[in-house]
Amino acid sequence: MLFEPITLPCGQTLKNRAVKAAMEENMADASHYPSVGLKKLYSAWAHGGVGLIISGNVMIDKMAMTGPGGVVLEKHTPLDAFTDWATQAKQNQCKAIMQINHPGRQVMKNMGGKNLSASDIAVDIGKHSNLLAQPRAMTNDEILDVIQRFVDTALKAKDAGFDGVQIHAAHGYLLSQFLSPLTNKRNDEWGGDLHNRARILYEVIQRVREAVGTTFIVAVKINSADFQRGGFDVEDAISVVTTLNTLSLDFVELSGGSYEAPAMQGKSGDERTLAREAYFLEFATQIAEHAKMPIMVTGGIKRRHIAEKVLSKNVDLIGMASALAFSPDLVKKWQKGNEIDGFVPNVQWKDKAMTGLANMALVKRQLQRMGKGKTPRTNHSPLLSLILDRVRIARLTKAYRRWIAVD
Ligand SMILES: Cc1cc2nc3c(=O)[nH]c(=O)nc-3n(C[C@H](O)[C@H](O)[C@H](O)COP(=O)(O)O)c2cc1C
Repeated sequence: MLFEPITLPCGQTLKNRAVKAAMEENMADASHYPSVGLKKLYSAWAHGGVGLIISGNVMIDKMAMTGPGGVVLEKHTPLDAFTDWATQAKQNQCKAIMQINHPGRQVMKNMGGKNLSASDIAVDIGKHSNLLAQPRAMTNDEILDVIQRFVDTALKAKDAGFDGVQIHAAHGYLLSQFLSPLTNKRNDEWGGDLHNRARILYEVIQRVREAVGTTFIVAVKINSADFQRGGFDVEDAISVVTTLNTLSLDFVELSGGSYEAPAMQGKSGDERTLAREAYFLEFATQIAEHAKMPIMVTGGIKRRHIAEKVLSKNVDLIGMASALAFSPDLVKKWQKGNEIDGFVPNVQWKDKAMTGLANMALVKRQLQRMGKGKTPRTNHSPLLSLILDRVRIARLTKAYRRWIAVD
């Protein structure tokens, strides 16, 4: 099943069902274009055997960044570096799509720039909350501007040679903030009942599809649930997917969580193998019953037989992120009959926020190694990786602040 091709609704065919899920790399160059290292990394993944690569999230507004060192693609951004990036990612009959995103309120305070959200509700991550910026509720014009930016960036991705885009509406970023009743307290047409809260997502999808035409991949990543009491839940996800059925999408990727409840990093409590190794599968199978478009599930997958099991449950594509940071050619090895298990870091410290950052730092360190043409390593110290990451992020944050000040 894993190595069966699939033709998406837009007519493009993926050579197999294995997808490199989005991972923010923070590896842009000084102009926030894809760097030489980033292109090298994507070449490794393209040769690693997956049928589809989804890029790390690309920012639609340079003033609103998920993190420093991120790639930015706006209406007037020169395309040369992006064309090279697409070319590297599309080697070996691999398709490549660009994930496009706006962070909304999930922006570190020291980044500067815009701090916008559906409502003026700040991220609550306990004692670390003061690291994040206080958002302001967006005006109607700002909402229309964001929708237009998604369209502009999608069109530029197409011009650069990408096969499609994925609109990021998961993990507590802006579109996900609109979807959740905990973060969207608006009483205009963009808030209130679920249909109104999802209006911005539907508008973005419709407008992007109109702009890019029928043969370009348009996908969406949404949460199967936010994992917060009173938040966006699986019933909401089913309702949204039912509407998405009418919007000419190529696939929906199901994930979960946010900065406040980082479920995408796994639930250590659940000991059942399938739940431990495919975090969102139960929700995904419920949602898939209502979906007319292909469904992709990401989260915790690193072993071939688990990937096959997930695909046997009404799921069309399996996404892997962390495992492909440690073994970019895992899928190629599986195809050759080597049943090797992938590696996913599993730091478990008392401080949940630091644990999440350490796991991310271990993964990002491998991306940087591959960008330098080095082989990833599974034996790096989590603490040292976290320290190196924090030093690097501080340096990139300073550079970003300088960049927005002069640009
Ligand atoms: C370093 C890192 C960066 C990530 N960046 C993104 C991102 O830019 N966009 C996104 O949708 N998900 C992002 N994710 C989440 C992954 O796509 C995925 O949903 C999550 O890691 C669970 O899958 P995994 O267990 O295979 O890693 C990131 C994950 C990691 C580890």
